[in-house]
Amino acid sequence: MTDFEKRILCIGAGYVGGPTMAMIAFKCPQYKVHVVDINPDRIDAWNSQNLPIYEPGLEEVVFEARGRNLFFSTDIQEGIEEADIIFVSVNTPTKTFGEGAGMAADLQYWEKTARQILECSKSPKIIVEKSTVPVRTAQAMERILGTDGTGKFQVLSNPEFLAEGTAIEDLKCPDRVLIGSRLTEEGLKARDELVSIYANWVPKDNIVTSDTWSSELSKLVANAFLAQRISSINAISALCEKTGADVSRVAYAVGKDGRIGDKFLKSSVGFGGSCFKKDILNLVYLCRSYGLQEVADYWEQVVKINEYQKERFVLNMLHTMFDTLAGKKICLLGFAFKADTGDTRETPGIYIAQRLAEEHCRVVVSDPQALDNAKIDLKELGDAVSYVEDPYEAAADCDALAVLTEWNLYKELDYAKIYNSMTKPAFVFDGRNILDHQALHDIGFNVFPIGKPALTHYRTNGRTR
Ligand code: NAD
Ligand code: UGA
Repeated sequence: MTDFEKRILCIGAGYVGGPTMAMIAFKCPQYKVHVVDINPDRIDAWNSQNLPIYEPGLEEVVFEARGRNLFFSTDIQEGIEEADIIFVSVNTPTKTFGEGAGMAADLQYWEKTARQILECSKSPKIIVEKSTVPVRTAQAMERILGTDGTGKFQVLSNPEFLAEGTAIEDLKCPDRVLIGSRLTEEGLKARDELVSIYANWVPKDNIVTSDTWSSELSKLVANAFLAQRISSINAISALCEKTGADVSRVAYAVGKDGRIGDKFLKSSVGFGGSCFKKDILNLVYLCRSYGLQEVADYWEQVVKINEYQKERFVLNMLHTMFDTLAGKKICLLGFAFKADTGDTRETPGIYIAQRLAEEHCRVVVSDPQALDNAKIDLKELGDAVSYVEDPYEAAADCDALAVLTEWNLYKELDYAKIYNSMTKPAFVFDGRNILDHQALHDIGFNVFPIGKPALTHYRTNGRTR
């Protein structure tokens, strides 16, 4: 153990803690990296051949470092005792009870961790906020640890910007690593220590340093800006459907302006994932608690448009399929909140499946990675939902296909074969605009993309072409 230059601990072995620490261990064999969690099943999975999360490139990184300088265990106390630097990467979900329910961040896991660090620490430590937290959480952490920034603990903010599905690439070549600290001598010294870890593979120019509060707030704002772009283009998709404009062409033309840029302008069935909604609501709650009502309302609208987009998708299915879905069967192609992940947290698929079931529609869910999670998410819908991995089998006898996740495999299916196995007239609702709509129409499908003219074989409310 003493051979290692630094001993790093991460508390929380989830979608962030696991890949982030695996990357540090992979890039820095001179450090010992220990990842702990209260969930023994998760730790067992991290120690197995079957990692608890699906992420392209993750296995390669974990298998290379695990057992060499990367260790997973449930021994939190031992981990804290021996660590020089402790990353805290526990979950900070939306609060479901009491003051701020449905909006504020639930910091109970975070606080428990802080108390445990205090209880088990015998030597000085740098504590790093990796979880996404409200502004000034570092101050709360300092108060629990009984420090004002001069004692044995230094608290830093180091929010994570990885996106699921591209986590390994994002960690290898981050646009930036952000580190916030107190601007005191001790704070800057601790900050330099964390900078020196990332500097093992991240160019110095991409390591941004700031004060703690700006760092904490930047994370919430980055997610709010990203989600705002999606809600902006999704709002325009509704107008495109009314006017005959094509949202992809609009996004392309608008995004060509260098000041706007072309990223995060893909219109969709709505954004999902564990963080956008939670972090925006957290921002909204913060603004309200500081009396900034107008600012809160502005950001809340990003979430409202996202809810509207999901409901619009369902209503479009209902109205185009002759105003009744009762007894019909719809195949959801994709359930994960985006491609290349099995994560289904806040995926639009949950809302859509629930709404279809409410309409007495039978739902078949297909996804290459997310079926286990889907079964948990939709458990209460019982027999109304079935789960079939093979898309051909899933689509057979269905009235419609609804593409909810942009998996590449859906672009390459034999849709003529699928069409022949479906009930007629057959519909496609492309919630990701990834399919060849003209080719599908030529096969015989009635095709309803997002924000583009429909291609039908009969007359619909002004959207026929
Ligand atoms: P997660 O739920 O996958 O993982 C959190 C882990 O913390 C769980 O395994 C849980 O068992 C563990 N945990 C909770 N309390 C604990 C305790 N007291 N001691 C030890 N372990 C404990 O969550 P996640 O997706 O990894 O997100 C973690 C944080 O990172 C959140 O604040 C999130 O907003 C932020 N974040 C997530 C992503 C993402 O892509 N998922 C990206 C950037 C930031
Ligand atoms: C997002 C951010 O991109 C990360 O930087 C951030 O670290 C992370 O949240 C977090 O804090 O958790 P993630 O949610 O994993 O990452 O995935 P994104 O690629 O951002 O996609 C989010 C949702 O938006 C998905 O449902 C995706 O399909 C949707 N999306 C994305 C669109 O509908 N259109 C787009 O143009 C882009």
